[in-house]
Amino acid sequence: MLLPTSESTPRAVSDRAYGTGHDAAATGKSTKKRWWIGVGALVAVALVVVAVVVPVYFLVIKKHSTTATASSAPSSTPGSSSGGGESPSGGTTVVGAVTGGDGSTVTTANGDTFVYNNSFGGYWLADPENPFASGARPNSWTPALNESWTWGVDRVYGVNLGGWFVLEPFIAPALFQPYPAATDEWSLTTLMRADGTLQAKLEAHYDTFITEQDIAQIAGAGLNWVRLPIPFWAIRRISSTWSDVGTDGSGAVAEPFLEGVCWKYIVRLLGWARKYGLRVNIDLHTIPGSQNGYNHSGKGGQINFLNGIMGVANAQRALDYIRIIAEFISQPEYRDVVPMFGILTALFVFYRNLAAFHLLMFPSYLQAHDMIRKITGIGAGNGPYISIHDGFQGLDSWAGFLPGSDRVILDTHPYFAFSGAPNDAPIATSDDPASAGGVWPKQACNAWGASINSSRSAFGVTVAGEFSNGYNDCGLYLDGVGGTPHYGGDCTLWQDSSAWNLTVKAGVMQFALASMDAMGDWFFWTWKIGQASDGVVRSPLWSYQLGLEGGWMPTDPRTAVGKCAALGVPGLQFDGTFSAWQTGGAGAGTIAASATAEFGVWPPATISHVDTAALTLMPTYTATGSVATLTYITPSASGSAAGVTPTASIGNGWFDAGDTVPAVTAVAGCTYPDAWNALSLPVPTAVCTGA
Ligand SMILES: *[C@@H]1O[C@H](CO)[C@@H](O)[C@H](O)[C@H]1NC(C)=O
Ligand SMILES: *[C@@H]1O[C@H](CO)[C@@H](O)[C@H](O)[C@H]1NC(C)=O
Ligand SMILES: *[C@@H]1O[C@H](CO)[C@@H](O)[C@H](O)[C@H]1NC(C)=O
Ligand SMILES: *[C@@H]1O[C@H](CO)[C@@H](O)[C@H](O)[C@H]1NC(C)=O
Ligand SMILES: *[C@@H]1O[C@H](CO)[C@@H](O)[C@H](O)[C@H]1NC(C)=O
Repeated sequence: MLLPTSESTPRAVSDRAYGTGHDAAATGKSTKKRWWIGVGALVAVALVVVAVVVPVYFLVIKKHSTTATASSAPSSTPGSSSGGGESPSGGTTVVGAVTGGDGSTVTTANGDTFVYNNSFGGYWLADPENPFASGARPNSWTPALNESWTWGVDRVYGVNLGGWFVLEPFIAPALFQPYPAATDEWSLTTLMRADGTLQAKLEAHYDTFITEQDIAQIAGAGLNWVRLPIPFWAIRRISSTWSDVGTDGSGAVAEPFLEGVCWKYIVRLLGWARKYGLRVNIDLHTIPGSQNGYNHSGKGGQINFLNGIMGVANAQRALDYIRIIAEFISQPEYRDVVPMFGILTALFVFYRNLAAFHLLMFPSYLQAHDMIRKITGIGAGNGPYISIHDGFQGLDSWAGFLPGSDRVILDTHPYFAFSGAPNDAPIATSDDPASAGGVWPKQACNAWGASINSSRSAFGVTVAGEFSNGYNDCGLYLDGVGGTPHYGGDCTLWQDSSAWNLTVKAGVMQFALASMDAMGDWFFWTWKIGQASDGVVRSPLWSYQLGLEGGWMPTDPRTAVGKCAALGVPGLQFDGTFSAWQTGGAGAGTIAASATAEFGVWPPATISHVDTAALTLMPTYTATGSVATLTYITPSASGSAAGVTPTASIGNGWFDAGDTVPAVTAVAGCTYPDAWNALSLPVPTAVCTGA
């Protein structure tokens, strides 16, 4: 979670199960054909019925019944390695059904089975013969992954997978409770390194916190996107010459994080998302040196990204991480599944002065935009949309930003929980949907609806990358996360949903519906809150899954549409027409000269905490390392560290063979200041040129 400090039309597509009309139909027709000559129209009708019913039977029903048969692996499946890559396992190839809809049985990589529930016409698809096929869809009103998404027409109904790869105490409290001194992932992993449990504990978390069953439930809940926060330390190192994070002798990057281990679980998630037809918004959620000083940026405290004497060096490093991720997700194997890439999330909360904020933030976004588009190419279909965060500055300050840029999305995170107000107006006021929720539903519509709607005209595609039911900041490790705890009431009720009566649930439900309607395209924060060590979910307002189980989240998110109008706040629906350049059409990629003139200076011409005269003396890295690539690697079924690589084409991790720019690395022989704690250090008197 990155928090602020202050403030449908269903598509006309069929619900059919994927894959009718395969070879079973052809066989059925040809073997029976002669018998039917001359029998007439009745039989022709029967033939049609057989042609439709037989393949459905064979594909959907028969194949399910063979899920346990391990001997009929398709000949093109590579040996016994991985099930072709979609449900990778270390053991035998899982065969059987390759697709199924509501009520079908799914067999996971480790042999577990569960029933797929989806009453919205969604179907999963995992074909070992064609491991990168992206024909699945989560519901009838969302285009399949290999069909185009139309912004302004198709709506994002998404959830975050928060607290999974970027740890947050309130989402995974049981990991933190044994370590009372831990306040963030930095301090937690330092303590776990000390007692020798780091890798075992974090791998157990990566392997089990979110499972394939969760992803199937998300698809069955009428949702169609997930936002996946990932840390930069998912990448083991950015260049061949850069030491491992925890062991750099120079002191430049002595970071305790568990480096490179979660990547294989991220790849596994991408496979699950493909299987269930969910689009993924990968969000780079941490930045070297910290981009906002919050505990959930990896390390609470200072901001050393474009701030202080390590500010530029940290930005150099961040840009390489962004590049490496962009190269991976732009590959043809992944671009259908990851159509959105969030970069530099939640920067610069300390810039209260808008001009100073623009001078730093806009150049960094322009720089990242140009770098990514050089890799992906310009225009729809070439790599992901780039999502940038509004920096908590309000959507207005982004109006007209970078006209002519290529597919940039503005991401805002509206939360009442951290508004600084006591927020003690009652939410449990009535069981009647029309008036349940007290002032809160209407407040969501008023506070967020108009600004998000206008941003779609003034900026372009705008989404709420995070929001929750937390109208207050109650919760274990949650109160005070944005500074001081401030809920004006008693938090007890909000830390254990087993005490909620129908009035409480009705209130929370109406607040959720109004929030969704105000935002239009949204990602709830977050899908799951883990149990505390006492077995209770202590921040229930933040869990979509718990809300579905408990009856305070909508089982069909489309029911939110029109909620604000019903509350007397009409006109919040964008009319659906973006300029062509905003969605990768004509004009995309030709940024107005006025914008490049203003923001095209890199590194920025001013850095806070550094005299302008001394800018050239700041320590920087040198682009001389051979750049690291992300590869296809997944955990074995047992969750051990051993990865599995199928022999099917998996891409080499690097989309643009022309991108041969070396990665940054430390200048040999130079000692660097602490990249996370350099704000008060003086600028060196001379540039270090090394040994
Ligand atoms: C989408 O994928 C499915 C399954 O691979 C395929 O049958 C279908 O033709 C594809 N659709 C498009 C538009 O490529
Ligand atoms: C689908 O519903 C059945 C019956 O309620 C349940 O046992 C199963 O766990 C559900 N599947 C998932 C993926 O939650
Ligand atoms: C970070 O953790 C420390 C220690 O628990 C706490 O005092 C501080 O308020 C937290 N800060 C934020 C921004 O969460
Ligand atoms: C439901 O719970 C709320 C909050 O504890 C309370 O204010 C309300 O009176 C309860 N309503 C009923 C009908 O019990
Ligand atoms: C919402 O945006 C539309 C344009 O798509 C505009 O016509 C309408 O006035 C906006 N509504 C509000 C309340 O700003």
